Amino acid sequence: MNKANNLQKRKYYIETWGCQMNEHDSEKMSGILESIGYIETNTPKDADLIIFNTCLVRKNAELKVYGNLGHLKTLKNKKPEMLIAVCGCMTQKKEIRDLIKEKYSHVDIVFGTHNIHKLPELIANARQNSRMIIDVWEDSGNIIEGLPAKRKYGFKAFVNVMHGCNNFCTYCIVPYTRGREKSRLPEDILREINELSAQGCKEVTLLGQNVNSYGKNLDKKVSFAQLLRMVNEVKGIERIRFTTSHPKDLSDELILAIKECDKVCEHIHLPFQAGSNKILKAMNRKYSKEHYLNLIEKIKNEIPNIAITTDIIVGFPGETEEDFEETLDVVRKVKFDSAFTFLYSIRKGTPAAKMENQVPEDIKHKRFKRLLDTIYPISLEINQKLKNKVVEVLVEEISKTDKTKVTGRTRTNKVVHFSGDKNLIGKLVKVRITNPKTWTLEGELID
Ligand code: SAH
Ligand code: SF4
Ligand code: F3S
Repeated sequence: MNKANNLQKRKYYIETWGCQMNEHDSEKMSGILESIGYIETNTPKDADLIIFNTCLVRKNAELKVYGNLGHLKTLKNKKPEMLIAVCGCMTQKKEIRDLIKEKYSHVDIVFGTHNIHKLPELIANARQNSRMIIDVWEDSGNIIEGLPAKRKYGFKAFVNVMHGCNNFCTYCIVPYTRGREKSRLPEDILREINELSAQGCKEVTLLGQNVNSYGKNLDKKVSFAQLLRMVNEVKGIERIRFTTSHPKDLSDELILAIKECDKVCEHIHLPFQAGSNKILKAMNRKYSKEHYLNLIEKIKNEIPNIAITTDIIVGFPGETEEDFEETLDVVRKVKFDSAFTFLYSIRKGTPAAKMENQVPEDIKHKRFKRLLDTIYPISLEINQKLKNKVVEVLVEEISKTDKTKVTGRTRTNKVVHFSGDKNLIGKLVKVRITNPKTWTLEGELID
């Protein structure tokens, strides 16, 4: 493609908030846009189309989008032919669509999580109409297969195995924004992974809100453990990851599959959310603290060098000091490699939002700090055991802080920095860990 041609092409810019589901949806939108002749730009002011792919999981995520949408107004005034689209989890809520209509009238297109495949049609409509085009589906019906995706990396890729969630944890908005659980057919998943492998992909991350319940709605039942075993057979793929697992459905069959499949990485992300059984019940998590601790013991016994990470919520309604101590107790007992920690955030439309015994913000913050003070020394202690050990790293990119270094990940999903150049990107290499830290490891390449 010569420069003159490129200059005539329309440019798009996508800003993504939220989880890997959203990141991968953005990759699909890029794929769709490039199939109709758009090219990507990293500069919003150069774009002919700006898409905000939004997240609603916590209040902060939502507020960021409003702030950014407000800023776009000036840009749109200067460049009225530019199209602005908002999609993702926020637009699935009617109140938010109404708010966009009322306060952000410079937005041209609003669509949802279930109809990203309609993007070309929506753009065409918006070019012909001056009014805001709003097209949001309540649920997707069937899964749309065969959408192109422009992936961020060639050597690693997200692959959806299922969409939606049926769990209705009482704090969580996701079941309302992503619809009911639907699994993709194993043959569709395997076809995609085979294609990725043929294009040089080495690592796949299988995505679902609760991958452990994969296959339950298929006519021909297939368990997630069986799916892992099938993916493990795909030639060329060297690493398999998956996220997220739910403790209530993590079976012995799955633990065995993780253990026996050589390509499945030694890492499990298993959110426990809270340690107190009273709070777990109020969260509708459907397991107890004892069940969680037992599971961890089983996993550690079967796969001794596995890394375990988790999600924890602090300050769910009704959480007392004693309840919070139970959360700290789980952290100390399990010894997580790392944890994503969240302050409970009220999400309108979820059952927990209506609970009366909300925890005051200052107490939430104090507990949050105590939680981090408990987690960090454990992460460091675990990482220090890696000193002088040799690990396999898939090199991802030039380090953002030091251009003479590259960054990659171990099979246990730990970030490693070491001296190296761009020729290493996408390669699996051996690295000796020289300086393990709390969140990252420093090392040296072994020839
Ligand atoms: N499906 C995944 C994660 C979905 S959202 C799972 O079930 O584990 C990612 C994390 O955000 C959750 O695990 C939870 O810890 C956190 N989260 C969800 N809703 C929240 C809320 N209202 N306030 C604070 N954290 C929340
Ligand atoms: Fe939300 Fe619970 Fe579903 Fe995860 S399992 S997406 S936390 S409702
Ligand atoms: Fe956010 Fe939607 Fe993911 S609410 S966390 S982007 S599923």
